[in-house]
Amino acid sequence: MDHARSIQNLALIGFMGTGKSAVGRLVADILHFTFLDTDTVIEAWAGKSIVDIFEQEGEPAFREWERKIVEELTRRRKTVIATGGGLPANDANLASLKTHALVVCLWASPEKIWQRVRGQKHRPLLNDRDPLAKIGELLAVREPYYRQADVLVNTGMRSLREVAQQVLHQFHMAQAIHR
Ligand code: S3P
Repeated sequence: MDHARSIQNLALIGFMGTGKSAVGRLVADILHFTFLDTDTVIEAWAGKSIVDIFEQEGEPAFREWERKIVEELTRRRKTVIATGGGLPANDANLASLKTHALVVCLWASPEKIWQRVRGQKHRPLLNDRDPLAKIGELLAVREPYYRQADVLVNTGMRSLREVAQQVLHQFHMAQAIHR
C-alpha cells in the first residue's frame, strides 16, 4: 500500500449479499464511527427506492448517482462506508475511495451469495431467469476490481462477528502504519 495514503474512513466493497451493511454497522459501532450505506443515501437523494430508480431511470442513471456519492464521500471523516456492489467496478470510483479510506472487500462464492440473497426482491440486477448464472457473470466482470481492494476477507465460512473482527484488525494495522 502507498505509504502516503490517508486513512480517514473504512470502505467495505464486494458483491451483493456479502454482508457489507451488517458488518459495516457492527464495525462502525465498535469504532464509534458514523455508518453510511451508499444505497440508502442514493434513495434519500433520489426520493425513491433503488428498484424504482432502475425501473424508471435505468441503470446508467443509478451509476451516475453512485458517481455523485463517491465525490461526496471524499469529505467524510470517521465513517464506515458500505458501498453498493457495483460502485467500485469503475476505476475512478475505486481510485477515489482509496484517497481517504482503507478499502476492504468482502468475498464469497456465487453459491454462497445465492444462498444469502435468494428470496430477497430489492436487487434489480438479480431479477433474472437464472440468478445464480447472473451472479457468476457479474462476479467475473467485477473480480478484477474487487481484487484491487487493500484487503480481501473471505466471508464464506465466517460469522458476522468473525468477519467484523478481521476487518477491525486490518483497519487498526493500516491506521498504525499511516499515522
Ligand atoms: C448493485 C448492488 C446493490 C445496489 C444495486 C446494484 C450491484 O447493492 O447498489 O441494486 O450492481 O451489484 P448491495 O451490494 O448493497 O446489494
